Amino acid sequence: MSSATRRPNTNCIHSGTRIDPAVGGVNTPIHMSSAYLQPNPQAPETCYPRYMNIPTQQAPADKIAALEHGEAGLVLATGLAAITIPILAMMRPGAHAVFQADLYGGTHHFILAEMERLGLAYTLVPETDPEAIAAAVRPGTTLVHLESPTNPTLKIIDLAATARAVKETNPDAVLCIDNTFATPMNQNPLDLGFDVVMHSGTKYLSGHSDLNCGAVVTSAARMKAIRETAVNIGTSLAPFDSYLLERSMKTLAVRMERHNANALAVAEYLERHPKIGAVHYPGLPSHPGHAAAARQMRGFGGMVSFELGDSPEAARAAVQRLSVIASAISLGGVESTITFPAETSHYKMTREERLAIGVTDTLARLSVGIEDVADLLEDLEGALAAL
Ligand SMILES: Cc1ncc(COP(=O)(O)O)c(C=O)c1O
Repeated sequence: MSSATRRPNTNCIHSGTRIDPAVGGVNTPIHMSSAYLQPNPQAPETCYPRYMNIPTQQAPADKIAALEHGEAGLVLATGLAAITIPILAMMRPGAHAVFQADLYGGTHHFILAEMERLGLAYTLVPETDPEAIAAAVRPGTTLVHLESPTNPTLKIIDLAATARAVKETNPDAVLCIDNTFATPMNQNPLDLGFDVVMHSGTKYLSGHSDLNCGAVVTSAARMKAIRETAVNIGTSLAPFDSYLLERSMKTLAVRMERHNANALAVAEYLERHPKIGAVHYPGLPSHPGHAAAARQMRGFGGMVSFELGDSPEAARAAVQRLSVIASAISLGGVESTITFPAETSHYKMTREERLAIGVTDTLARLSVGIEDVADLLEDLEGALAAL
């Protein structure tokens, strides 16, 4: 059975894994070498970790490609590298890029700091509707980079409609998406007309808050250029981290089932709570993007954000009262964590930029883990009672 016909749980476990037949262990061995024998000195390319061509690195790359229904995968040292390398590979003087304004803070900062410095032209689109995104596309637009659901406000873009609208405007514009929040278990943008999928593998793909990594999936032809830029810049994933990533993805499907179920229960609880303001979760029928999310996602993910308390002080005091849910940055781990994006993922934005995309001083972002949901609800109940 090929990965194209196997189902997602089977692909999580078996796709990409490279058994060493001489030994027979069921896992991909960790090739802990930076120097490789060169049987043919004339061979132009030998194994070298920065070239990302050793089996330990290829295993997770092939696994994520199978899960995202793409031809080729690449794993990189960070999620931000997985976003910036394809952009740098595709941009050139005179080209233009379109970005959603509402993006992960690190991506937003890359645009303002690095693209500005290199003189690369771009447009930030505040709206999330397909027509507004397509309206920013010009004849010279090389790429369109989006997120859905967005970090941290969980906005939803109708991916199929956006892909159609963008390609009608400019068939050469490459559609890229950061699929970190959804994961390939919940959403496969390549099936909806997108060309490149990026991940912060630091989050759900690795899932245990012990690893920084990223992944890109696209066609074999497009990957050639992206890989070349990645080799030139030098952002390969180390062998042991590659091993951890592949091992972790074996449980991605079962982890996501629990993340999805727990987050829905937590979002429903928060929405009913008299002291909680707006709750953002695409699985709630009240979410403005719920219909599009229900069409394009198989589950709504593990991330919930909500307005907590009347003041930043009250919000932070409530978080201090939590005992199961940890106050911590990052997301997507088996353990539940909570943070205020204004102080963490989006701290480099100005207050005006933050408020324009809904990142208020009291917006809490909860990464719902896979603990017993009753314990999470009890923890929240205790912390919110004193609001
Ligand atoms: C949606 C999203 N994309 C990309 C990144 C960057 O990933 P990394 O921190 O692994 O570089 C993050 C990190 O928080 C993120 O939340």
